Amino acid sequence: MTEQVKSKKILILFAHPAQHHSKANAAMAVAAKQVEGLTFIDLYAQYPRLKIDVEAEQKRLLEHDVIVFQFPIFWYSTPSILKEWQDLVLEFGFAYGHDGDKLKGKKFLIAATAGRSDQAYSVDGDNKHSLRTFLKPLELTAELCQMQYIPPFILHASLEAQQNGEIENHAIEYGRLLNALSSDRLNMSEAISREYLNISQLPINEVN
Ligand SMILES: Cc1cc2nc3c(=O)[nH]c(=O)nc-3n(C[C@H](O)[C@H](O)[C@H](O)COP(=O)(O)O)c2cc1C
Repeated sequence: MTEQVKSKKILILFAHPAQHHSKANAAMAVAAKQVEGLTFIDLYAQYPRLKIDVEAEQKRLLEHDVIVFQFPIFWYSTPSILKEWQDLVLEFGFAYGHDGDKLKGKKFLIAATAGRSDQAYSVDGDNKHSLRTFLKPLELTAELCQMQYIPPFILHASLEAQQNGEIENHAIEYGRLLNALSSDRLNMSEAISREYLNISQLPINEVN
């Protein structure tokens, strides 16, 4: 008898304040929405006045196994609504601190797009640090909340990627990654040994 693997529930919290200009995240959103059973929340559409419903957000977190923040890098960081969301939703006693273990064991993934190249995000580059370093506050937040931090899935040089027709492939690989997370086929020990999840070699266990 074949054992049925219960699919993991993925929640994408998407933050892009200027979606009418978006190419990369728009393509990624289309790919993500095709993943069965995935919940896709457009935070700016849901909270145009940034009045986040903490109770609803916490309930939604409890209902999912994998939490994804999808966003364009703005000023070396996330768009502001994601910071507001963290400040309000990740409460003491819920996400951390005494009895604050409600997110324990969930997986956390950043899917971000950056205007600058990976070379710019290097010690010798204009930004002097890797993008993974700029994203450390999210990594440490995930750790404090006892979540499993998956190395970020990044599209660098978004404008060049658009001009070279690479965005479509990036979106396809994003869909493949999300499908692997949904069916629990991401090889976690291999994934966490890397600095980033590289689209050319996603550590996905094939189905037998
Ligand atoms: C206000 C603003 C700030 C930005 N700051 C950065 C930044 O700090 N680093 C970077 O690599 N790109 C930066 N960018 C470029 C965006 O990350 C890039 O346009 C986006 O990832 C492309 O995705 P999209 O096609 O979905 O909009 C910035 C763009 C804007 C509009």
